[in-house]
Amino acid sequence: MKIAVIGCGNMGYALIRGILSGYPKLSQLDAVDAVAEIFDGFSFHEKLKKNVVLEEAIAAADVIMLAVKPADADALIRRMKPHLSKQQRIVSVMAGISTTKLASKLGVSKVVRVMPNLPAKIRKAVLCYYATAALSDAERAEVDQILSCCGKTIFVREEGLLDAATAISGTGPAYVFFLMDVMMKQARFMGFDEVQAQELVMYTLMGSSDLIYHEGVSPQTLIARVASKGGTTEAALHVLEQKAVADDIGKAIQAALARSKELGNNEA
Ligand SMILES: NC(=O)c1ccc[n+]([C@@H]2O[C@H](COP(=O)([O-])OP(=O)(O)OC[C@H]3O[C@@H](n4cnc5c(N)ncnc54)[C@H](OP(=O)(O)O)[C@@H]3O)[C@@H](O)[C@H]2O)c1
Repeated sequence: MKIAVIGCGNMGYALIRGILSGYPKLSQLDAVDAVAEIFDGFSFHEKLKKNVVLEEAIAAADVIMLAVKPADADALIRRMKPHLSKQQRIVSVMAGISTTKLASKLGVSKVVRVMPNLPAKIRKAVLCYYATAALSDAERAEVDQILSCCGKTIFVREEGLLDAATAISGTGPAYVFFLMDVMMKQARFMGFDEVQAQELVMYTLMGSSDLIYHEGVSPQTLIARVASKGGTTEAALHVLEQKAVADDIGKAIQAALARSKELGNNEA
């Protein structure tokens, strides 16, 4: 399998690292970027060809991954179109650009659209994706395996759910960092130093998410388990309920959803 990654910034680089370390069927990975210096920090890998000319990478690839900013998409599409063939698969991580738009502008039919998130950098992303009907089950499974190199994949049969994924998992790391920041400030206020505060909060989050993963139960079940009658957790939860914090978080997620749809409409 020959893969080309076009755009090797934050997300492109994360995809490349994941694929190189985890995709067994890879024979060659061509990396293309507008800026040659971007490859200075890339380490050597026998299957990686850096700074390949776009047209050459496209001619060679079975799967072409697009990771440029949405604003650069139109110029890229115009350059790519004459060199594409029908059997090639396009996998786009570009936010807000529909498979219909990509397919019609590129003149191809096998298109996969992915919403990854920031932890792709350490191969712990959630990658929610939609595939057009032109991909066979085997072709989609292959793309799934490629994406799995960067984390957990979730396949959706409705493209509109990618806006929801943007609001939940794409934007999600920022919700978690926000909560961590609030907790850390309180820890500092109570007397911990900066390093201790970050460790207290970070390990609490990592331990809690590992626990829920291993036990396979709902957050509500675990909340009930830690909140003993008259205890500290109950006191904290009482304030969260009184202040309707859950409603406010819901509103924040809805705002992200609305913005994702709006950006998508502007791109259409
Ligand atoms: N970062 C995230 O967490 C995240 C999450 C979900 C989705 N995404 C999506 O991932 C995409 C990339 O985001 P990013 O943060 O990785 O952006 P980025 O760091 O700016 O990387 C994009 C790279 O593509 C290059 N480029 C632009 N036009 C090109 C062309 N025609 N041919 C080859 N290379 C070209 C850019 O060069 P220049 O700098 O010279 O323009 C830049 O080096 C976006 O569409 C975004 O929606 C990102």
